[in-house]
Amino acid sequence: MDFLEWDDDLLIGITEVDEQHQHLINVLRDMYEKVQSCESIHEERILTGELLKELQDYARQHFVEEEEILTQKKYPDLLPHQEEHTRFVQELVRLRESYAAGEEALSFNVFFFAYQWLIHHIREKDMQYAKFFRGK
Ligand SMILES: [Fe+2]
Repeated sequence: MDFLEWDDDLLIGITEVDEQHQHLINVLRDMYEKVQSCESIHEERILTGELLKELQDYARQHFVEEEEILTQKKYPDLLPHQEEHTRFVQELVRLRESYAAGEEALSFNVFFFAYQWLIHHIREKDMQYAKFFRGK
């Protein structure tokens, strides 16, 4: 699987969630492309900070919607799932702060982290609830 690419093995079989996941990956790729075309480190730093905020807002909105589905369907592992979402958002906040403070050198690391986290979470955790719903 190529970096920042969507792969159909990430489909969990719930259309609205799958669409949001695809969109999240697309947003991430668009962001990274924008950052790549920056002409200076200074520009890249400002842009990465802005994009991290955008990503954080979008991810949060997606998580809220996903958690609503899990609540409605009485998913027993809602709480640990929710905690994973929260930790991801917290990490994005932390990255944005350290970026703003000039501590984070490479925007690549930021995008790599977000992408890895997302595909791992979808494959492991989201797939788990999708299986649970199918078995019901
Ligand atoms: Fe999730």
